[in-house]
Amino acid sequence: MSSLAVLHASQLITLAGPPRARSGKELGELGIIHDGGLFSADGKITHVGKTPEIKKFCQRDTEVIDARGCVVLPGFVDAHTHLVFAGNRLEDFESRARGETYQQTAKRGGGIKTTVRATRAATENDLFALAKKRAGWFLQNGTTTVEAKSGYGLTLEDELKILRVIRRVGAETPLETVPTFLGAHAFPPEFGENHGGYISLIIDKMLPAIEQEKLAEYCDIFCEQNYFDVDDSRRVLTTAKQHGLKLRMHVDQLTNGGGAKMAADLGAVTADHLEQTDADGISALAKRGVQPVLLPGSVYALGSKKYPAARQMIDAGLAVVLATDFNPGSSPSASIPMMLSLAVTQMRMSPTEAITAATINAAASLGRIESIGSLEAGKLANLVIYDCDDFRELAYWFGVSLVRDVFVRGKRT
Ligand code: NIG
Ligand code: FE
Repeated sequence: MSSLAVLHASQLITLAGPPRARSGKELGELGIIHDGGLFSADGKITHVGKTPEIKKFCQRDTEVIDARGCVVLPGFVDAHTHLVFAGNRLEDFESRARGETYQQTAKRGGGIKTTVRATRAATENDLFALAKKRAGWFLQNGTTTVEAKSGYGLTLEDELKILRVIRRVGAETPLETVPTFLGAHAFPPEFGENHGGYISLIIDKMLPAIEQEKLAEYCDIFCEQNYFDVDDSRRVLTTAKQHGLKLRMHVDQLTNGGGAKMAADLGAVTADHLEQTDADGISALAKRGVQPVLLPGSVYALGSKKYPAARQMIDAGLAVVLATDFNPGSSPSASIPMMLSLAVTQMRMSPTEAITAATINAAASLGRIESIGSLEAGKLANLVIYDCDDFRELAYWFGVSLVRDVFVRGKRT
């Protein structure tokens, strides 16, 4: 039996509590233990408490980590990433600095289409090598689980290729992955104006193949002007449900097209982005208990000022989630700590709320509340030790990595 003990943490941030997404007052409860410690055996946490209690469990072969002067947190859970793609979008990045908008970039043939061309040309092994390198970036920034979407293939074979890479990252690197099918990310150029033809391909070919190979847990759609509208969303996502997939949706990112309401109507688990969502959209989400996934990295990187209305969502009782939206176009960042900074400085969330949103609430949104998102007996020993003694510093020192050690299932990565 391999065992690990972490002792003497200045603050052990447990997030212990009821096994459900946290809203309202509960968003402010981190379950902090001073001079905290934990013990894990065979990758699972067995005890959490004050250091003297934990010491009692140590045996001769236990790996003992002294976390004096450090904060210890559960590994971050990033509930919205586009992990697998080839190439980059440096040209778009520069043209945006010259004043081009995301929509203008897409119109002239840049944007998502650039990444689709590069991703189609890459082999599964090429994509795996790229994704493996990025898995290292997530781990180095304190993230131990990511949701990962397909969506840069847009043919049956290329979408399956991406989903297989997502599965391989989970199996062959320490980063855990939760796969989401996002075939409805953009209309592929070869379909021209035949949008119905592509929707049929998704419904008739892609969804059955994904179910057959068990390649995804969730289905997502980019519900946005010039991409997929609410009727497309209903068709694709209703069929996805029949194939056993749960739903997440990109909604109201650039325009308010009634996406939040549609997410609520369809019983989606999450509605993501929500930069343009109004009070009606927020109350629709609240009525159905849809979790909002806020992605301030994409607002920041697109040079927009319009962050989602986090405070109104929290006041409405929503169990907010914070994620990176890691992707080459609108959010090239694998850093949850950067998102914590943006949440506090731009969205007026407290550091406590932001950390809850990127751990236990994110785990709940991925159907993983039983195994990750907090440091409690029975959960995986996925934990990160930071070189600071107050958790608020994670959001405060922006652009600085304070990560000292990362453990996944009790093993150092
Ligand atoms: O979440 N909005 C759609 N998808 C991504 C951007 C993808 C891209 O630009 O490559 C997003 O922002
Ligand atoms: Fe996204």
